[in-house]
Amino acid sequence: MRLKNGSSTIVGIVFVLVAVSILMAQPAIAATPNLPNNSCADCHRTLLFSTGEQRQFIEIRIQHLENGISCSIVCHEDKLNKTTASTYALWSISSHALFGVTCEKCHGGNASAVSMQGAHVGLSNISIARANTPETCGKCHQAELEEFKSSKHYMNLESGLEVPAPACITCHQAHSVHVLTASEIEDFCSNCHNNITGINPTIPAKAEKALSSVAELRIEISKASSAINTAKAKNLDVTRAEVNLGSAMTILKETPSVWHRFNLTFFDTEVQRGIADAQNATNAASYAQATPETTKAPGFGVALFVIGLFVAYFLKRSR
Ligand code: HEC
Ligand code: HEC
Ligand code: HEC
Ligand code: HEC
Ligand code: HEC
Repeated sequence: MRLKNGSSTIVGIVFVLVAVSILMAQPAIAATPNLPNNSCADCHRTLLFSTGEQRQFIEIRIQHLENGISCSIVCHEDKLNKTTASTYALWSISSHALFGVTCEKCHGGNASAVSMQGAHVGLSNISIARANTPETCGKCHQAELEEFKSSKHYMNLESGLEVPAPACITCHQAHSVHVLTASEIEDFCSNCHNNITGINPTIPAKAEKALSSVAELRIEISKASSAINTAKAKNLDVTRAEVNLGSAMTILKETPSVWHRFNLTFFDTEVQRGIADAQNATNAASYAQATPETTKAPGFGVALFVIGLFVAYFLKRSR
C-alpha cells in the first residue's frame, strides 16, 4: 500500500510538471509559428491587412474562392504585390517561408535590427528590379540561372531594349513563388506569345504538351520501379534494369532546370529519352534472368546429388 501511494505521488508530480511545461511552452509557440527570429518578418506580419483597401482585396478573393470562381492568383497578386502587408501574406504561405528564405535574402537590410529605420538600412531597389531577378534568384537557384542564360528570354532581358521578355518573377511572382503547372501554362504564355504580338504564337500549345510529358515520365518511372521490385522479390538479376531506371530518374531530376533553357525541342527530346529509359528498365526487369548465384545453384545441387550417391553406395557396402 505504501509503495502504491508513493508511486502515485510520483506519477502526480510528473503529470503536473508535464502540464506546467506544456502551458509555459504554448504561448511562445503560438506567437511565432514556424518562423526564424527575423525582425523583417516579425514586424511586417503586424502590418497585415492594415488598410481598408487591402482588407477589401482579401475579402473579394476569399468570396471568389468560396463561390468557385476561378480567379488566377496572378491577376490579384500584381495588385497585391505592391502593398507592404500583402507581400508578407503571400510570402508567409510560400515554400520560401517554409525553407527560411526571409525578406532580407532578396531585399537586403538588417534582419536583427528591431526598429524600422535600423532594419531598413541597406534595403536595395537594385536587387529586386525585374531585369535583375535572374541574378538575385540565381544566387540560390544556380542550375535554373545557368540554363536561363542561354534562352532568348534572358538575351532579350539583358539587351535593355524595349522588348517584352519574362524575368523569374514574371512567371513565379516575387513572394508566392508559384510554379505554373501544365494546365496553367498555355494561358500564361499566351500573354506574350499570341497572334497580336506575333511572338511565336505556336509556343503556348507546344509548351503545354512538353510539360505534360513530364507526368508521363513519372508514370513510366513508377512502373519501372515496381517491375524491379517484383523481379527482386523473385531473386532475379535486375542490374541492367536498375541502370536504365537510374538514367531515367536523372533526367526527371534535371527537367525543372533544363526547362529554363526555353528550347522546347531540346526539352521534349530529353523527356522522351527518359521515357524510353524507363520503359527499357521495365522490359529488362520483366525478362530478367535468374541472378548469377542462383544459376550456380543447379551445378552445386548436381554435385551434392553425386556425393550423396557415393555416400549411399559406401554405406550400403560397409554393411
Ligand atoms: C519595426 C517594423 C519594421 C521592420 C523591423 C522592418 N520593416 Fe520594412 N516596413 C515597415 C513599414 C511600416 C513599412 C511601410 C513604410 C511606409 O509605408 O513608409 C515598410 C516598408 C518596407 C518595404 C517597402 C519599401 C520601402 O522602403 O518603403 C520593404 C521592401 C521592406 N519594408 C522590407 C523590409 C526588410 C527586408 C526588413 C528586414 C531587413 C524590414 N522591412 C524590417 C516596417 C518594418
Ligand atoms: C525571393 C526574393 C524575395 C523575398 C524572400 C521577399 N521579397 Fe519582397 N520583393 C521581391 C521582388 C523581386 C520585388 C519586386 C516585385 C515587382 O517588381 O513586381 C519585391 C517587392 C516587395 C515590395 C514592394 C516594394 C516596392 O518598392 O515596390 C515589398 C513591400 C516587399 N517586397 C516586402 C517584402 C517582405 C516584407 C518580405 C518578407 C516577408 C519580402 N518582401 C520577401 C523579392 C523578394
Ligand atoms: C537565399 C536563397 C534563395 C533565394 C535568393 C531565392 N530562392 Fe527560391 N528557393 C530557395 C529554397 C531553399 C527553396 C525551397 C527548396 C527548393 O525547392 O529547392 C526555394 C524554392 C523556390 C521555388 C519552388 C517553389 C515550390 O513551391 O516548389 C521557386 C519557383 C523559387 N524558389 C523561385 C525563386 C525566385 C523567382 C527567386 C527570386 C525572386 C528566388 N527563388 C530566390 C532559396 C532561394
Ligand atoms: C517563362 C516562365 C519562367 C521563367 C522566366 C522562369 N521560370 Fe522557373 N519555372 C517555370 C515553370 C513552368 C517551371 C516548372 C517546370 C517543370 O515542371 O519542369 C519552373 C520551375 C522552376 C523551379 C523548380 C520548381 C520545382 O518544383 O522544382 C525553380 C527553382 C525555378 N523555376 C526558378 C526560376 C528562376 C530562378 C528563374 C530566373 C532565373 C526562373 N525560374 C524563370 C517558368 C519560368
Ligand atoms: C513577357 C513576354 C513573354 C512571356 C510571358 C513569355 N515569353 Fe517566351 N518569348 C518572349 C520573347 C520576346 C521571345 C523572343 C522571340 C524572338 O526573339 O524570336 C520569346 C521566346 C521564347 C522561346 C524561344 C523561341 C525560339 O525561337 O527560340 C520559347 C521556347 C519561349 N519563348 C517559351 C515561352 C514559354 C513556354 C512561356 C510561358 C511559360 C513564355 N515563353 C512566356 C516573350 C515572352
